[in-house]
Amino acid sequence: MSVKENYKLDIPAEKLPKHVAIIMDGNGRWAEHRSLPRFSGHRAGVEALRSILQMSGELGIQSLTLFAFSSENWRRPKKEVGLLMDLFMNALGREVKKLHETGVRLRVIGDLSAFPAKLQQRIKESMRLTEGNIGLQVNIAANYGGKWDITQATQKIAELVSNGEIDSDDITEDLLNDHLSMSDQPEPDLFIRTGGEQRISNFLIWQLAYSELYFTRVLWPDFDRDEYAKAITSFAMRQRRFGRTGAQVLESDQREHA
Ligand code: IPE
Ligand code: IPE
Ligand code: MG
Repeated sequence: MSVKENYKLDIPAEKLPKHVAIIMDGNGRWAEHRSLPRFSGHRAGVEALRSILQMSGELGIQSLTLFAFSSENWRRPKKEVGLLMDLFMNALGREVKKLHETGVRLRVIGDLSAFPAKLQQRIKESMRLTEGNIGLQVNIAANYGGKWDITQATQKIAELVSNGEIDSDDITEDLLNDHLSMSDQPEPDLFIRTGGEQRISNFLIWQLAYSELYFTRVLWPDFDRDEYAKAITSFAMRQRRFGRTGAQVLESDQREHA
């Protein structure tokens, strides 16, 4: 085992994020830097994911949400979109059984109706196969957009109002939250974006309201266990105040540990 694979994070469990959300960006540039077609970068990106999934499981992280294809990514050249669909299809076919064996519970979030029927079928089968698992929850955001998520939640709530099941006064933050894609999971504590851009790109806009943001220039295919450890260490050193003062947070931490 290499030193890298052996990396041990010395962080107390209560300082670890429960939910990590990642924008896996930089595949195309990784390939371009090597004079390879962009698609090779996407393939290398799937490989990089393997160790991040493994390490998330080892650390006991509850949920890992991965941005695989945004609602805006349809704007890419047809050929790249097609290759990405094939890659998704093949990766699901190849990896799901292995993930199932390690106790991973898989969910794909996003507007799946736009995908080819075969891919939709494979997604459903993968989710059904793993739904009883109690290990790491992996959410793959595919044809996902934060604005889409809030819109679909609003539509469901509008239906409840028009059926007379609730009044408009009953619409609260909690109710809207309950209709979003990952309402059964804690909101992401840590958001990671690789590839150097410092933007959200219509990922989880509601759920990231109080997440700690971590940006790195490392391109996704190069994001390994050490890089992940750096992100988690950065998270563990931050004081999450949620509106309170630093002194208040310290005081309540001390009370909890007394
Ligand atoms: C992220 O890598 C993967 C997807 C959007 C599917 P990119 O393909 O955006 O890589 P860059 O940003 O062009 O380097
Ligand atoms: C965001 O990456 C989506 C995914 C990583 C899947 P993009 O590379 O498409 O984001 P923008 O458009 O450059 O912000
Ligand atoms: Mg990009």
